Amino acid sequence: MSSIQEQKIQELISLRERAKLGGGEKRIEAQHKKGKFTARERIEMMLDEGSFEEFDMFVSHRCIDFGLEKESYLSDGVVTGYGTIDGRLVFLFSQDFTVFGGSLSEMFAAKICKVMDMAMKVGAPVIGINDSGGARIQEGVKSLGGYAEIFQRNIMASGVIPQISAIFGPCAGGAVYSPALTDFIIMTKNTSYMFVTGPKVVKTVTNETVTSEELGGAGVHSTKSGVAHFVAENEEEGILLIRKLLSYLPQNNLEEAPIAPCDDPIDRLEDSLNEIIPENANKPYDVKEVIEAIVDYGEYLEVQRDFAPNIITGFARFNGVSVGLIANQPKYLAGVLDINASRKAARFVRFCDAFNIPLVTLVDVPGFLPGTNQEYNGIIIHGAKLLFAYGEATVPKITIILRKAYGGAYDVMSSKHLRGDINYAWPNAEIAVMGPKGAIEVLLSRELDSIEDEKAKVEMLVKKEQEYKEKFANPYVAAKFGYIDDVIEPRNTRFRIIRALQALATKKDVNPPKKHSNLPL
Ligand code: HXC
Repeated sequence: MSSIQEQKIQELISLRERAKLGGGEKRIEAQHKKGKFTARERIEMMLDEGSFEEFDMFVSHRCIDFGLEKESYLSDGVVTGYGTIDGRLVFLFSQDFTVFGGSLSEMFAAKICKVMDMAMKVGAPVIGINDSGGARIQEGVKSLGGYAEIFQRNIMASGVIPQISAIFGPCAGGAVYSPALTDFIIMTKNTSYMFVTGPKVVKTVTNETVTSEELGGAGVHSTKSGVAHFVAENEEEGILLIRKLLSYLPQNNLEEAPIAPCDDPIDRLEDSLNEIIPENANKPYDVKEVIEAIVDYGEYLEVQRDFAPNIITGFARFNGVSVGLIANQPKYLAGVLDINASRKAARFVRFCDAFNIPLVTLVDVPGFLPGTNQEYNGIIIHGAKLLFAYGEATVPKITIILRKAYGGAYDVMSSKHLRGDINYAWPNAEIAVMGPKGAIEVLLSRELDSIEDEKAKVEMLVKKEQEYKEKFANPYVAAKFGYIDDVIEPRNTRFRIIRALQALATKKDVNPPKKHSNLPL
């Protein structure tokens, strides 16, 4: 090699080294002190070893205001490129807080847009790692334009490729809307926060005093707002979660999720399920025990675990086939459908449908939650979201009614009438307009009022309730009309679901051509 060539290679190596230092050793140290990894360290942890191919390492900003012409860093605050996770291609960007606080400039946005465009062309997921002070103040409106360019791509990619956002630091102002447009948000405890306006503005406008954590920490978004789908103890756990999540998903909307090898016997009988439903229909049980008994190896990945726990959503596998699980949870609020449960499940159903992931629904629902709070806040519209999502979904839909399926909630929870493909019920199922007590009180209100003797009234109530139970609180009335396809022994549930998935593997169903639906938002 000539000395000129050698010099050029040395120049390349030293430029790369400079780029890898981001905002410099001191700021890297400060990042580590906060318990955070750097943008590049996060990528190394996320991807299969040695698989990262970086783009645009030599990009720098073009700003000449506020003295920025004298301060510039290679990569300009975001590391972008592609690599593999479990051998499958992903594109990613990782915001570098050590460079101008990870703030977004025109060129920073252009780098993100480049990987998003490429991911769309080849049909691979995009992972965004967020750790940023928001719009780069010195760049003004160019930064705002950059955000909107990203938003537009998030919107175009929605339902085409999976988009996942990790929030590993600040994410504030309009910057929150890119993660919000993606499919899943993972936040770390104590080191991440998301809000549209920070504590200072909140104090000025509403006179409320709150900390960043109280306003938009992982705890808030995983329990109160439902913005975050997963919370991780730390970044390592967050990264492992993302890798696991991707294992359940296809690369894009034209593909199926990968089939995992499975040694768990498909005909494994679970005798415990024959006894899991309490004799008293008002007694709760934990539907997670049912889930663990029927899915491969008892493993599932719960989505939005701490938000609206009266409904469970998550990914699991049956004989290696990835499914979206939705289950009413009798342990919380008797498994009732309320606003948050409806929103949570609707979004999950739509995600699964967009990405060809079959839906398995376990039903035990006493109805919609009554009350002024729910009505004033629009349970009608939010409940309709879930109804809409199920009715619109064309993926295989398997429904098991474990116990109660009352009223409108029976219809909503992937009933036959909403194109449920295979609908089974356990022998304990009660499929009716409402529970026995409520029904008798409505039907016999005048008759009951006319009885003066309290004892006689109670006796009559009990007798009529019993009659109602015998007549309606069972699965056979619905079975008589073909609304359920079979009444199955609970211990056989795993086998019956696997068989159903096999039968439905080639299912084709379409919705009428339209620009888009008018989902009740
Ligand atoms: C330029 C920024 C910056 C920003 C931080 N920095 N935010 N530079 N534009 N938005 C720089 C700091 O000057 C500092 O530079 C370095 O990043 C680290 O910041 P610190 O403040 O020292 O860090 P920390 O104490 O951890 O505080 C982090 C922070 C704070 C909470 C994010 O920096 C902050 O409040 N930044 C401003 C946030 C903001 O108001 N952004 C605009 C929001 S409006 P040095 O050289 O000292 O290392 C918005 C609109 C988007 O984003 C609209 C989209 C539609």
